[in-house]
Amino acid sequence: MDEITLPKPDDWHLHLRDGAMLKGILPFSAKHFARAIIMPNLVPPVVTATDAQAYRDRIMAVLPQGLDFTPLMTLYLTEGTDPADVAAAHASGLVTAVKLYPAGATTNSHSGVRDLSKVMPVLEKMAEIGMPLCIHGEVTSSDVDIFDREAVFIETVLDPLRKRLPDLKITLEHVTTSDGVDYVSGADKNLAATITTHHLMINRNAILAGGIKPHYYCLPVAKRESHRLALRKAATSGDPRFFLGTDSAPHVDPLKECGCGCAGIFTAINTLSCLAHVFEEESALDKLAGFASVSGPAWYGLPVNTDTVTLRKRSSPVSWPAKIETGDGPVTVFDPMVPVHWEVA
Ligand code: DOR
Ligand code: ZN
Repeated sequence: MDEITLPKPDDWHLHLRDGAMLKGILPFSAKHFARAIIMPNLVPPVVTATDAQAYRDRIMAVLPQGLDFTPLMTLYLTEGTDPADVAAAHASGLVTAVKLYPAGATTNSHSGVRDLSKVMPVLEKMAEIGMPLCIHGEVTSSDVDIFDREAVFIETVLDPLRKRLPDLKITLEHVTTSDGVDYVSGADKNLAATITTHHLMINRNAILAGGIKPHYYCLPVAKRESHRLALRKAATSGDPRFFLGTDSAPHVDPLKECGCGCAGIFTAINTLSCLAHVFEEESALDKLAGFASVSGPAWYGLPVNTDTVTLRKRSSPVSWPAKIETGDGPVTVFDPMVPVHWEVA
């Protein structure tokens, strides 16, 4: 097969940032994706319905004419979040989901949750109204090894939370381990997971072997090869509980290439090409539409897009710019480190 047509994909986990960066990167997502779940970890974060409305307006104001793109907004859960504000934002259709960042887990997460008991009234309300919770699933304590933080989170936070609130619909985001895959596969209900493009393509060697490579550093950090293989198996399995969330997360190069570089990989430009490459390698091109276009909408109760996207395999590898220029500065594009022959037609 050297051509495949899919319903237009959606990105169920995307960082669009704000200001000049937003303007610089939005066109890349809007070209290939019809909708995206927009992460709320701005500075300051998107906490209230009013914040979400203003952020949505800023996104739509810089969407280039002729591109049809719907941002699905999220609220950043804090220990001060008001359950009534969340419920009203969901009922009005403005907000799709709430995002839980354990405080300190990643970029701009310091306003996140330290004590889960403080947000139980919000979570109970969400369970009651059927509003999904997106979770960054890593513990933050310094005594837990960074490569174990997802597995420990599942055991010590996620599983108890699901037992306490079985009706809460949870998306475990950017799952990176076989532990995560196994946990989601074994769940009886109300649990799904997104998988990023880069975690299907790289393992931790990309970051650390042959020199330190900050453009492969993200959170959760890429794990060893056996975990990457488990992610590939889940993504290409056809199980509708695993679907695409790119976690495309641009930072300008000076903030990556320094003594304490930011976490985040910018994949919005080449995600679809890379996914076609991965699914072809796994002899699963027939499962790509499910992963990128069908299972996500089903989970979020939305229709599959009627527009389509065609991917074509060419004889020479596809190339992308090494960097894009934004009004905030240059952003390095994800380099998949292997020749990729699939291009978006
Ligand atoms: O690598 C990441 N970058 N992981 C996250 O969870 C946040 C994101 C960002 O905002 O840069
Ligand atoms: Zn993210």
